[in-house]
Amino acid sequence: MRGLDSLVAPVKLSEWIDPVLHQNLIAEQTDAIRLCTCPDGWAERFGVDILISYKNDAALNRLQTELCLWALNVDFHFRRVFARFLPKRNAEREAPRLVLGDPGTNLQSTAMERTLRYGIDFGAGYSAGLFIDQRENRHFVRELAPRSLLNCFAYTCSFSVAAATVGAATVSIDLSKKSLARGRENFGLNSLPTEGHRFIADDVLDVLPRLARKEERFDVIILDPPTFSRSHRGKAFQIEQHFEKLLMAALEVAARDGKILLSTNCSKLGERALEVMARYCLKATRRAGTFHRAAPLPDFPSGVAASTVWLTLR
Ligand SMILES: C[S@@+](CC[C@H](N)C(=O)[O-])C[C@H]1O[C@@H](n2cnc3c(N)ncnc32)[C@H](O)[C@@H]1O
Repeated sequence: MRGLDSLVAPVKLSEWIDPVLHQNLIAEQTDAIRLCTCPDGWAERFGVDILISYKNDAALNRLQTELCLWALNVDFHFRRVFARFLPKRNAEREAPRLVLGDPGTNLQSTAMERTLRYGIDFGAGYSAGLFIDQRENRHFVRELAPRSLLNCFAYTCSFSVAAATVGAATVSIDLSKKSLARGRENFGLNSLPTEGHRFIADDVLDVLPRLARKEERFDVIILDPPTFSRSHRGKAFQIEQHFEKLLMAALEVAARDGKILLSTNCSKLGERALEVMARYCLKATRRAGTFHRAAPLPDFPSGVAASTVWLTLR
């Protein structure tokens, strides 16, 4: 008689992270990891919890089933699984919901990235608190050890934390007071005092000219805007329309040999387009620079993470 396993279709786990790579990331004290990327969704690990992002119910079911098999393979005992639907329109985005695990547990936890700790909150909104695909860019900031870092669209200030650990004075700008408060908490999680660091709850396009008027200059500037946003005063930011204005304003506060990270999730703006726009801005402001990309992310298939380019001014 044929065994039971011949009746069950074999589950392909080829889209899941290689167990050795997962182990290597854990060994370097990183537990914020993309575990799987498939056409209709993905699964990420944040510490002991899992977040599944999905476009349809079939993808959610598949990712949940495969997660259990993969976790068994690598002997990982996750605590909870959260799931969030990926809507076509940003206005329809909702916070993740718990699909597996104890509903009585705190929605807040922490995740680690190369020894740094970041707060995670599955109840705070659509995003949990850390964008995993900026890992190599945060690492590059730590390697640069800048004296000063300007973090535009700072969200929970992960780039500021990375810079502060290597001695930088940081300025974090975000429209959201709540996100900046979480940023301050992230400093605390890493035993970093917030004195000497500034947190500005305002529109980046209003703050940059103010910093320029005060003749402030920064060694590293992070430009990672959303595709679209609206400020409290009703002003719209649309990346394709405003990116050049944003970069021109950033160039005004960049140190002579400063570095600027250009980053976007907008599917219409790839790395080549970012570079073309940046070259136009350099020419218009009579500055020169070179471009490079951070190391590829081992847990992301190519073309899946945010498009990012580093501009080094000369
Ligand atoms: C894509 S997230 C940035 C992620 C961040 N760079 C990171 O790696 O964690 C976008 C952030 O931009 C903020 N934001 C949107 N429009 C803004 C504006 N005009 N000025 C300042 N912040 C803005 C949002 O509140 C949100 O926190």
